[in-house]
Amino acid sequence: MEPVKIGLLGLGTVGGGTVNVLARNRDEIARRAGRAIEVVHASARDLAKARICSLDGITLTDKPEAVVDDPQVSIVVELMGGTDLARDLTLRAIDAGKHVVTANKALVALHGNEIFDAARRRGVMVAFEAAVAGGIPIIKALREGLAGNRIEWIAGIINGTGNFILSEMRDKGRDFEDVLAQAQSLGYAEADPSFDVQGIDAAHKLAILAAIAFGKPLAFDKVYTEGIEKVTPEDMHDAGQLGYRIKHLGIARRTGEGVELRVHPTLIPERRLIANVNGIMNALLVMADAVGPTLYYGAGAGAEPTASAVVADLVDVVRTLTTDPNNRVPHLAFQPDAISTLPMLSIDDAVTAYYLRMLAKDRPGVLAEVATILGNAGISIEAVVQPQPPHGASQAKLILLSHPVRERQMNIALGQIEALDSISGKVTRIRVEQLDGD
Ligand code: NAP
Ligand code: HSE
Repeated sequence: MEPVKIGLLGLGTVGGGTVNVLARNRDEIARRAGRAIEVVHASARDLAKARICSLDGITLTDKPEAVVDDPQVSIVVELMGGTDLARDLTLRAIDAGKHVVTANKALVALHGNEIFDAARRRGVMVAFEAAVAGGIPIIKALREGLAGNRIEWIAGIINGTGNFILSEMRDKGRDFEDVLAQAQSLGYAEADPSFDVQGIDAAHKLAILAAIAFGKPLAFDKVYTEGIEKVTPEDMHDAGQLGYRIKHLGIARRTGEGVELRVHPTLIPERRLIANVNGIMNALLVMADAVGPTLYYGAGAGAEPTASAVVADLVDVVRTLTTDPNNRVPHLAFQPDAISTLPMLSIDDAVTAYYLRMLAKDRPGVLAEVATILGNAGISIEAVVQPQPPHGASQAKLILLSHPVRERQMNIALGQIEALDSISGKVTRIRVEQLDGD
């Protein structure tokens, strides 16, 4: 049978990795897909730039629309990044009856509802395994492997760059900026690395995971997002003393009231497997009613791990080229006419435990004042630590772990604590999750 001809938009880290994996594993891939897969046309901005892959047999252009419009291309692989041009080209490909594979989580999170709707109407597939957690086949696991379950929650380390930074800071005492620069040079970071550092990339991925897990439309604007910029070596150390690690987690949880979607640094018990996922690796813990907890682990970024997911999508698309579009796996797992109406909850409604660190005047009664405020707000304390202050210091560090409480109540209590004459500055607050189940 004739090879399936594909066009690549982007020949950077992921595009180059995809060309390499397709070339190296050509025969194995053809045995799985039923046909060979051949890259015939590719676009990039700078045609003179050195590439990590061979361009033999590939027509190169700086006009991405030429790839989309090429009549011999039946699958367009979008690996450019960004949302405006990527959206236009994706819709243009769909309009032309071409299938699309993308690694672009920002595109899917922001424009996925429109794109999947257009794809459904045109009877084409838009596959996006590489958009979440790099090489881990989590989309397939949620959409197909766990299709018999009611998914209760997902908690994941879903940004490799952020995890790399936190791991290197904790284990090697390295400087934040220095590790970020290394992540950029290794091709892990986004074109705009603030997406990694501020949690935006993780929020894109969480929005995608939640849609697939709970059968809801994509709702990136409903994800509460905090980055890793404020995590200090001091908090990492103090968390360690209490038996916890700080990880940047994306959490999607179904509650009796709706769906919580939040991305933030989180203390998790160091005995949990996920607490020991370091460097560029990602991991997702999924709690589902029938199977119980399942854990998915693997490289979250990089050329070939991401290409692994891109090529798996290509194989899936090629396998289904001849199937009836109405009988394919739905893009977002649930049938489009069976979308849930569960509300998305605000962060104020989230229920979680907290690590609180504050500087207090070293005098009797301060702890009682803080405990009274927390007690009046209905917040019970699980642990209190007051490390010995340095000799002669007038202030002492106070660390508290609370039991789970609604965020709104905690905000009120923190406002009152920060207003105390005996407390200096802001209270550092990091949410704590037990993630029972691994
Ligand atoms: P990258 O290395 O910056 O590559 C982007 C490619 O697209 C480059 O070849 C670039 O051309 C081309 N390009 C960008 N803007 C263009 C434009 N306006 N017109 C024409 N060509 C354009 O990015 P990447 O790391 O491969 O990431 C690609 C996508 O995969 C992004 O959506 C990213 O979020 C996603 N992703 C990345 C990873 C990862 O580990 N890197 C993992 C999962 C998902 P030049 O090379 O000439 O500049
Ligand atoms: N910048 C992303 C990360 C790439 O570091 O996780 C993979 O999505």
